[in-house]
Amino acid sequence: MPVPASVSDYRLLAEQRLPRAFFDYIDGGAYNELTLAANRDDLDALNLHQRVLRGAANIDTSTTVLGETLAQPVILGPVGLAGLYARRGEVQAARAAKAAGVPFCLSTVSICSIEEVSAAGTAPFWFQLYVIRDRGYAKELLARAQAAGCTTLVFTVDLPVFATRYRDVRNGMTGGATLAGRLAKLWDIVRHTDWLLDVAVGGKPLTFGNLAQAVPSAKSLEAMKVWVDAQFDPAITWRDLGWLRENWSGNIVIKGVLDADDARAAADIGASAVVVSNHGGRQLDGAPSAISTLPRVVDAVGDRLEVLMDGGIRSGQDVAKALALGAKAILLGRPWAYGLAARGEQGVAEVLALLKRELEITMTLLGVERIEQIGAGALDR
Ligand SMILES: Cc1cc2nc3c(=O)[nH]c(=O)nc-3n(C[C@H](O)[C@H](O)[C@H](O)COP(=O)(O)O)c2cc1C
Repeated sequence: MPVPASVSDYRLLAEQRLPRAFFDYIDGGAYNELTLAANRDDLDALNLHQRVLRGAANIDTSTTVLGETLAQPVILGPVGLAGLYARRGEVQAARAAKAAGVPFCLSTVSICSIEEVSAAGTAPFWFQLYVIRDRGYAKELLARAQAAGCTTLVFTVDLPVFATRYRDVRNGMTGGATLAGRLAKLWDIVRHTDWLLDVAVGGKPLTFGNLAQAVPSAKSLEAMKVWVDAQFDPAITWRDLGWLRENWSGNIVIKGVLDADDARAAADIGASAVVVSNHGGRQLDGAPSAISTLPRVVDAVGDRLEVLMDGGIRSGQDVAKALALGAKAILLGRPWAYGLAARGEQGVAEVLALLKRELEITMTLLGVERIEQIGAGALDR
């Protein structure tokens, strides 16, 4: 492909460059991938409302989220294991985000540690935390993130257990591979020479930077799954979140909300924002798409906190659709991971530039110049 033109082109480049198991880990969803597909299908089913001759010439895609100015209503959402897609991948992605004027959110299960990302001169960035049983450890992570200058904490609540992703099981990512299976995986890694030299050889150490003591190696999902099974706490309730407030002085964003009452509970505990999200179709298969649940969350809490969304956003047109339904901004998951796998920092920068250009053109064709003008009227019902 001489010139990638769309996010799906970066997906194809990522597929060529990555060993199968890692590509499938990014690309796949839980069980039958119904929710993964719904995220896309429901966005595709929305029509945009074309307006003409409205003089929309001076397009400004900038907006504010939680008091920060963003060059466009886009955030690089937390994506685990990014340092396996490109050498020291989280640092590369954070740099691209900073240059593009959008926030980068570092995952709990990143390869690069909070300190490594911060030392690369990318602060302030956002930090994502999972519900961890060991509260002492969680507090330590929060303290590290605050010391590194992180402004916003994204607390992910839709992964109290790890849902099965059939592709990861088949690829032996979660253990159980036969000798033949392990050899096939090894051969697949060896024949992806660019990745092998860039990441497996040049990108060391391949450990979970934030969990170094807890999880010894990041070379397969198996070690992480063992840790998740032991550490993630399905017993936690909204009432337990007081300790989070006590240990984090900045913004708290609750990620993984699809229900109006859950969104109200997030507002009640003092969250600054929620992310309407089904974890990119990677958790409850059969849950509705994020875009279809966005309006009910906006109705419930839109006047109390900022509503963000993610799941299936692949173009500037999709960004406009999410904004039209009340999202303040969207988070990207797979699109930036594809860009990173395809071309490292440059690939992430290109994906962000692509979305921005698509959004600008979409705004002109909708007849609006500023982000806050993208309202219900931007959809053709
Ligand atoms: C490979 C991969 C790893 C992810 N890791 C995390 C994570 O560590 N923490 C988290 O809160 N969400 C994680 N997510 C979910 C994303 O933050 C986001 O909710 C989802 O990918 C959005 O959907 P999209 O990929 O269609 O944009 C991950 C998603 C993918 C694809």
